[in-house]
Amino acid sequence: MTVPIAIIGAGIAGLSAAQALQKEGLTVHLFDKGHGSGGRMASKRSEVGALDLGAQYFTARDRRFVEQIQQWQEKGWVAEWKPQLYNYRDGQLTPSPDEQVRWVGVPRMSAITRGLLKDVTVNFSCRITEVFRGKQYWHLQDTEGCSHGPFSRVIVAVPAPQATPLLAATPKLAAAAAGVQMEPTWAVALGFDTPLDTPMQGCFVQDCALDWLARNRSKPGREEHLDTWVLHATSAWSKQHIDLQKETVIEQLLGDFAELVGCAVPAPSFSLAHRWLYARPAGNHEWGVLADADQGLYACGDWCLSGRVEGAWLSGQEAARRLIEHLE
Ligand code: FAD
Ligand code: NAI
Repeated sequence: MTVPIAIIGAGIAGLSAAQALQKEGLTVHLFDKGHGSGGRMASKRSEVGALDLGAQYFTARDRRFVEQIQQWQEKGWVAEWKPQLYNYRDGQLTPSPDEQVRWVGVPRMSAITRGLLKDVTVNFSCRITEVFRGKQYWHLQDTEGCSHGPFSRVIVAVPAPQATPLLAATPKLAAAAAGVQMEPTWAVALGFDTPLDTPMQGCFVQDCALDWLARNRSKPGREEHLDTWVLHATSAWSKQHIDLQKETVIEQLLGDFAELVGCAVPAPSFSLAHRWLYARPAGNHEWGVLADADQGLYACGDWCLSGRVEGAWLSGQEAARRLIEHLE
């Protein structure tokens, strides 16, 4: 019997590791507390279509990720998004075009992790609370009291605060994860029956509760019947208003949006708010992966690198590489 490798977290980091391990003929078993894959790259299904409430787009600076995106493009999972970009600063809205290549999943962000799930064993709606080692192998415990295993090795691919208790078997890894702070982001989606009278499709915002706006429907492959927008608040505003009612968050961020967008904003016919508790690491780390190779316990995710999709994917690759290296 081959003893599989457990991966906790089916976001882009966990699936990146899974893919790299499977390529080497290793068997993996994923666990995720969510109903589907993607984590912060997931798309929220709603009555107006699927909305990218987390990651908005991604860029690629590392050659390995550039090559990976090329392959995803050939499979039809991603396409380039060329938004009409603006910048808002000191009450001034100005066009802010640039040459940066930006990618999105099609027809929604979650298409990428959905594609990567093929041929992978996953338990969804399964929140792991404990990772422990028996004589030879690892076992996982979930919130329902079920035990899963045996596993030869475990990769923890969840945000740092959620990783900390799962790394308790190796206190050094747990301490490193515990030292990483992650900041929240309030996201609001809006839908308008009549398209807003602005060419804007994306906007970087300064000195405001808002940090970013995107016209969701302007991304390739989207078919929403409403003019849909996604607004992100800054980490500072989100932290300050962490326990606000969703209706109040919508009201306040809609107010700021209406003030800055530079055209009439009628009452939206659709709105929702989503709170990301662990949206982004407060600082940058260059670990790549945290590893206790002798025990076979690893941690990866965006917080081990750049806090972006690219960093999460690279960190998953690095976890797989370190694990494979130790097998040889
Ligand atoms: P995640 O996507 O968080 O995956 C972790 C998974 O683990 C989740 O699916 C979760 O359900 C699961 N999990 C957690 N705990 C447990 C447990 N105990 N048991 C089982 N499963 C568990 N990046 C960009 O590059 N460009 C952007 O424009 C961008 N915008 C963003 C906007 C927002 C609002 C947010 C929140 C993030 C944004 N990011 C952006 C960051 C990007 O989304 C992340 O860096 C990346 O998706 C992280 O991937 P990951 O696999 O490391 O973690
Ligand atoms: P990028 O290169 O497009 O943007 C990086 C930063 O450069 C932007 O945040 C913005 O400040 C600035 N910038 C880029 N182009 C600009 C333009 N045309 N006009 C004005 N400013 C411009 O993308 P990258 O480096 O891949 O970063 C991803 C994005 O994801 C960033 O905007 C980041 O803030 C965001 N992000 C948001 C998170 C959240 O929780 N809200 C979490 C992680 C990332």
